[in-house]
Amino acid sequence: MKKVFIIGNWKSYKTSLETTMWFQEISNLLAGRQVSNFENKEVVLCVPFTLLSLAKSLIEQYTLPITLGVQDISPFGEGKYTGEINGKQIAEFAKYVIIGHSERRKYFDENEEIINQKIEQAVANKLTPIVCISELAQVDTLRVMSPSAPGNDGIIIAYEPLFAIGSGTPDTPENADSVASDIAKKIENTPVIYGGSVTSQNAHSFTNMPSISGILPGGASLDAQEFAAIVTNA
Ligand code: PGA
Repeated sequence: MKKVFIIGNWKSYKTSLETTMWFQEISNLLAGRQVSNFENKEVVLCVPFTLLSLAKSLIEQYTLPITLGVQDISPFGEGKYTGEINGKQIAEFAKYVIIGHSERRKYFDENEEIINQKIEQAVANKLTPIVCISELAQVDTLRVMSPSAPGNDGIIIAYEPLFAIGSGTPDTPENADSVASDIAKKIENTPVIYGGSVTSQNAHSFTNMPSISGILPGGASLDAQEFAAIVTNA
């Protein structure tokens, strides 16, 4: 049975109180066995930096099989970079980091060089980068493509077509699978996951595809019940 990644992306949502309520709800659903036991599934939740410490203690308190991730990383190590959160700081709380999400490319002008620097910082700090691309050609801009690049077997690629993000109109599983298979040919030993309007209703249609190793739900991860249903169905 293949390992399936379910990676929730909270984007810029939730306060501390809302986070506490989300974890209470997930833990109740698990205790009541209303959701599967997460077997063969790596469940990751990428929260805003301000919620990392709280989320970490709630995961410990409820002994939840959820691993924490973040949604960005500084392209630099520690130093005089006002406002940045670096890889060493992230590694205290999280194991995964989303890099190059289309919203960061669009609203924060993230270019290929910055994205490559961020991947290198993540790898140097033993974090797993989840590198988002919206089209196949973007794979060629990644320095980890080089066989000699350090950590090139420790990354995840997320295929997220622009039209599907937050639109309620996902790609078809067949098309997403065909792009995932093309990505896998370019960058070996790298799981490819799909993101863009994933819900509990369509989750399995993507994870069931041969070249797709998981899903990246955004909006649907904000609701504990819906996220639990995604984990169960995926
Ligand atoms: P969505 O977001 O599930 O709300 O479409 C996915 C993403 O942006 O990663």
